[in-house]
Amino acid sequence: MNRYTMGAFALVGFLMGCGSEAPPAPSTTVGEVVHPELPPLPEVSGLTPMPDLNPDPHIVEVDLVARPHAVQLLPGQATQLFNYNDQFPGPLLHARVGDRVIIHFRNDLAEETVIHWHGLRISDQMDGSPVIQTPVQPGASFTYDFVVPDAGTFWYHTHYHQIQQLEYGLYGALVVHERDFPVFSAERIFVGDDIRLRTTNNQISAFQTSGPDIGGGRVGNRLLSNGRVINGEDGDGPVTFTIPRGAIERWRFVLATNALSYGLRIRGADARVISTDGGLLPEAFALERVEIAPGQRYDFEVRPQADATEVVLEALVLVLDENDNVVEAPFVLARGTIEGETVTPEPVYPKVSLPATSVEAAGHEWKLSGGVVDGQVQFTINGVPSYVGEGHEHVLLETFEPNVPVKITLSSNVSPRHPFHIHGQFFQILERGGKPVFEPGLRDTVEVRGNETATILSYFENHGRWMVHCHISEHSENGMMADVQVGTQAAGHGH
Ligand code: C2O
Ligand code: CU
Repeated sequence: MNRYTMGAFALVGFLMGCGSEAPPAPSTTVGEVVHPELPPLPEVSGLTPMPDLNPDPHIVEVDLVARPHAVQLLPGQATQLFNYNDQFPGPLLHARVGDRVIIHFRNDLAEETVIHWHGLRISDQMDGSPVIQTPVQPGASFTYDFVVPDAGTFWYHTHYHQIQQLEYGLYGALVVHERDFPVFSAERIFVGDDIRLRTTNNQISAFQTSGPDIGGGRVGNRLLSNGRVINGEDGDGPVTFTIPRGAIERWRFVLATNALSYGLRIRGADARVISTDGGLLPEAFALERVEIAPGQRYDFEVRPQADATEVVLEALVLVLDENDNVVEAPFVLARGTIEGETVTPEPVYPKVSLPATSVEAAGHEWKLSGGVVDGQVQFTINGVPSYVGEGHEHVLLETFEPNVPVKITLSSNVSPRHPFHIHGQFFQILERGGKPVFEPGLRDTVEVRGNETATILSYFENHGRWMVHCHISEHSENGMMADVQVGTQAAGHGH
């Protein structure tokens, strides 16, 4: 049985348990733990978790409010942002696979918004698509309610006027722990972002509607790590902490930029990739560096090296040098000083298998392109701009039969690259330029590089109407966004 079907069965089982056939109540006496089979969730350092208002260990119930919020990013004037719960990044939403999650959301912005739970294979009704969900008006509320079907590192973010609202800080991390999660000496989470601030007053600089900001996507002049400015003399510098020798830690990483992709590298430790967008890998792998694109995630297992004094997480970013040559430069996102000593039992990873890739699968093509129409940059999928400006309508690109493997070859012929995201589904990356690649694991976002093809394999097992789009906000909001339909019936409601 593969992971997909296991997840589906677990979900079905849970939903059934909510109905008439309630699961047998655990027999307890006063003072006993109600659910002794469930160990408490491990702490994930780096972001403040949302307080869980519901005492039921299988329900996470939280309040979330979006509103303007000023953050001291640099010395001098505080920067006006839009944040969730006055935190930047937003608070950590923390659950266990199979939990019901209820989010009481209130919009205290002066504009409409919706929240998308990026990577969660939930009902399309709860997915935060502005086509399905009427955007939440200023002052209005909406309750998101769903069961989390998969474990992994995910994130949530605005899906409305994303160019501006995402740049303004409407995002947060979402961690779903495995039922039998491996135990580490510590878990940490890092969210990478960039932001473009005016040098005169530290405010977010104006948004362009043409030129390189649209062509390639808006890139900042400051790099952020968990909301701290890490580059420049006046920044806060990297996230810092101490890590004992002998530690075995799990580091989760989310990239929340509008457009910037970069390399990730860990120095001073033996580090292995243990998880991608869709959860744990069947087999961890070590690499000098990995590439991460907007929307993607990685988890690393990190063991400080015997002769190292610090463990450093770096972003490898393309920048211009003083001669205007494009060069790659390292920026430290996080620095752990090695201090003290500990003994950590080997983490026990749950057994994971991925859906077979050696299957007969029909081939589909999605051509990502763009051009200038009437002086406006317009991005297209298979020649059609699907979402432009304010329109809350997406072209229906294709209809898929559920649970039938499909190969999709995405190609980019104009813009530099397109980190392409499919809502509500996972896929595997098979090929680039027609050649097999080693990019293991389940993904919900694949970076399609310029003048390249990338072939993915998806099973489309989650019914409903789903958005597919480039995760560069400037591309999706200027046309590179559509819907696909999986099956005929809508997905089950969140609960
Ligand atoms: Cu992370 Cu449609 O988005
Ligand atoms: Cu794009």
